[in-house]
Amino acid sequence: MKLFSVKLRASKDGKHISGAERITPHEEINTVINQLYHRLSHKEFDSINIKIDILKEKPLLVEKTLPIVNLTFKDHKKANKTAVQIIQKQTGLSEEKIKQLIDLIHSGASPDGENMRGAMIVDLSGNRLEKDQFRGVRTTHVDYLERDKIIQKLIKKGFTERTADAIALTTKNMLHKDIIAEYCISDEPDYLTGYISTKEAYYRLTPLKEKGNKKGGRIYFIKNGADIDEIYRFLEEKPVLIKDVNM
Ligand code: COA
Ligand code: AMP
Repeated sequence: MKLFSVKLRASKDGKHISGAERITPHEEINTVINQLYHRLSHKEFDSINIKIDILKEKPLLVEKTLPIVNLTFKDHKKANKTAVQIIQKQTGLSEEKIKQLIDLIHSGASPDGENMRGAMIVDLSGNRLEKDQFRGVRTTHVDYLERDKIIQKLIKKGFTERTADAIALTTKNMLHKDIIAEYCISDEPDYLTGYISTKEAYYRLTPLKEKGNKKGGRIYFIKNGADIDEIYRFLEEKPVLIKDVNM
């Protein structure tokens, strides 16, 4: 069966607002475009871009997402302290270096002080390795095999579709042998939950950012000496379909 990547993204005055992607068979493309449009239509946009591409390679089928671990804190400072500890254990980077990188995400990690258009890549010596520090790398070509079933399952447990998308994206990241951890906060000022992923778990931390902060971003921690071109190719192009959510 031929599968297609369907992406919709909305922008205003040339600035990205929101986007999403689905992997779907030909006969579902119309339905998926409508669903994605419905999701974006309440946002204040002046342009919506629809991109449909046939998958050039067979998707990797993955049994389960990372298991979800929920952690709640009194404030974002305490949550980030725990985040630093989890990342420190995985990467061996100093607490000071991790704090510095996290602070950069909270204050705009692009060289112009704005949010990056994708994730920052950092190795175990603390070096930034993105090919372009304004853009970073974006993980795409990932979805659930039976999306509706998974969303229902997550909603029953009190999660949202946003969580479903975030877990899918980071589960793909953690499949790469050289990516060992991820830190993420949304760039939406009112969405305060963030996450840390490791090979073992998806730690969902609330609140990981301060209310009202428009800054957000992701850090992918990778092994020293990893092949950067290959990591970009895997994250941007390798199709991944996830069968179930681990909870
Ligand atoms: N932030 C800022 N700009 C973005 C963007 C983003 N997330 N995604 C796309 N753009 C803009 C950029 O200007 C980009 O050009 P660039 O490649 O030079 O940066 C341009 O749109 C074209 O992007 P395109 O190549 O079509 O996008 P893509 O193939 O990387 O896919 C999305 C874009 C939005 C569909 C993809 O990032 C996605 O699936 N996002 C979902 C994120 C998600 O699920 N988050 C979890 C919620 S917590
Ligand atoms: P979001 O999770 O969509 O709120 O995005 C939070 C931040 O993560 C953005 O500001 C970007 O810096 C980065 N980002 C957005 N989409 C992607 C992606 N597909 N892959 C990696 N990083 C992304």
